[in-house]
Amino acid sequence: MHEAQIEQSNAADEQAMLAASEREPGDGTEEAAAPSVQDSLPPDPEALLEVRHLKKYFPANKDFFGRPRAFVKAVDDVSFKIRAGTTLGIVGESGCGKTTLGRTILRLQPATGGEIFFDGKDINKLKTAEMNALRPQMQIIFQDPYSSLSPRMPIGEIIGEAVGQHKLVPKSERKAYVLDIMKKCGLPSHYFERYPHEFSGGQRQRICIATALALKPKFVVCDEPVSALDVSIQAQIINLLKDLQEKMELTYIFISHDLSVVEHISNQVGVMYLGSLVEYAQTDDIFERPMHPYTEALFSAVPVPDPDATNKRIILSGDIPSPINAPSGCKFHTRCNHCMDICKEVAPKFRDYGNGHMVACHLYPQD
Ligand SMILES: Nc1ncnc2c1ncn2[C@@H]1O[C@H](COP(=O)(O)OP(=O)(O)OP(=O)(O)O)[C@@H](O)[C@H]1O
Ligand code: SF4
Ligand SMILES: [Mg+2]
Repeated sequence: MHEAQIEQSNAADEQAMLAASEREPGDGTEEAAAPSVQDSLPPDPEALLEVRHLKKYFPANKDFFGRPRAFVKAVDDVSFKIRAGTTLGIVGESGCGKTTLGRTILRLQPATGGEIFFDGKDINKLKTAEMNALRPQMQIIFQDPYSSLSPRMPIGEIIGEAVGQHKLVPKSERKAYVLDIMKKCGLPSHYFERYPHEFSGGQRQRICIATALALKPKFVVCDEPVSALDVSIQAQIINLLKDLQEKMELTYIFISHDLSVVEHISNQVGVMYLGSLVEYAQTDDIFERPMHPYTEALFSAVPVPDPDATNKRIILSGDIPSPINAPSGCKFHTRCNHCMDICKEVAPKFRDYGNGHMVACHLYPQD
């Protein structure tokens, strides 16, 4: 990734959003249509997914006429790339925009601005029919496996439903295909006729994984897929996801609060704070050498297996500021132990400090 920058949002953004919020809802492309200086640059052929300056603002505080007076800047100028077959872990405190990032990338909700290239196509620009044709390739697995399973359908039907809708295999072969996916996900064939309520949380999550993978996706957003499960089951599901990734050449965004899990499964890690990426690097690099003070604080809470190691926990002071009215300059300045005068006024650039290790912080050279 090159020269991605996190800049302070300006009045023009808000004007654009105000205008967009007054339009009739359409197929989701209307809010994302803002022209960008990046339009002329072709996508990186080595990346399955490339996100440039992605924004997702939600209207808040409406006035008498129902027009938004302010916006929740849930995703605020995020850029990154993911190579096929790898995993990007996304971490950050609750409310920093992880789920919104995942959902916006999948176009489950329209972007406010920016570009999302999937397999070379800017999906913000696809028409509804084109997007529907692409949908099977981009799947999501949620934290709560129960809410995403229809209680009235047996497992075989749940997994087979979308396969039928998208005509991925001939009808005569569908049952065999579903049984094969179930087997890959560790679900015995006699589960085919059984209903979701008959299963444990771990088994339900396997069913959700099978349902997503039955569509032969290339890319899966895993949004806290193991957070609701017992620790012993978490490891089984993580290993299943890793195993399936290898067999099916899957690319993941893996969202989690659990840094040990993220370290285990990710090739690279992005750290989000108030809607923006503050650090992004290869997993080994970021765990061995966190550069941003927020990352340092977040990672200092991970237990270290070596009893002799001195793991000094950094306690963050203050609450997370509102994403409606984020602090000026560096958004983290209200909680940072290293805050300088410049941090309160100037947003630091998101710069590469070697080996693709990107950081947005005035502690490091900005030129
Ligand atoms: N549909 C919506 N309308 C308005 N605000 C929203 C909407 N969805 C999310 N938000 C706001 O956007 C911000 C980011 O939310 P998001 O769910 O993406 O955070 P998160 O990092 O996934 O949090 P968690 O770790 O708790 O799941 C929050 O301030 C949230 O309140
Ligand atoms: S830019 Fe300043 S306030 Fe922000 S993280 Fe760096 S040192 Fe802290
Ligand atoms: Mg979330």
